[in-house]
Amino acid sequence: MTRLVDVAGVAEVPLGTMLMVQVDGADIVLINHEGTIRAMQGICPHEYFELDKGFITGDSITCALHLSRFDLATGEALDPPAELPLAMYPVTVVEGRVLIELPEGAVPVNE
Ligand code: FES
Repeated sequence: MTRLVDVAGVAEVPLGTMLMVQVDGADIVLINHEGTIRAMQGICPHEYFELDKGFITGDSITCALHLSRFDLATGEALDPPAELPLAMYPVTVVEGRVLIELPEGAVPVNE
């Protein structure tokens, strides 16, 4: 079973920016990459660090603490020291709202 969670307005995530939102206490970072909004776990799987303090670098997001990059399409860790991928959550945009598809229960996070 999955649920759709309304987390933000599209206008809150302008092109090339990030927005951290919370769902049931879990941080989720929204990223507007070339007009496509992605939703990924908001905390780095290497150590605890908020990814919205990092940088969008081409097709990846770079954690500002130890500079691991993660693929924006797959969540894959592209550089050490991070090894685990970022959990990604399907996004649907409906009438200007960003909806994230999540399983029932706890938000899945890699750590
Ligand atoms: S905390 Fe993100 S790479 Fe180390």
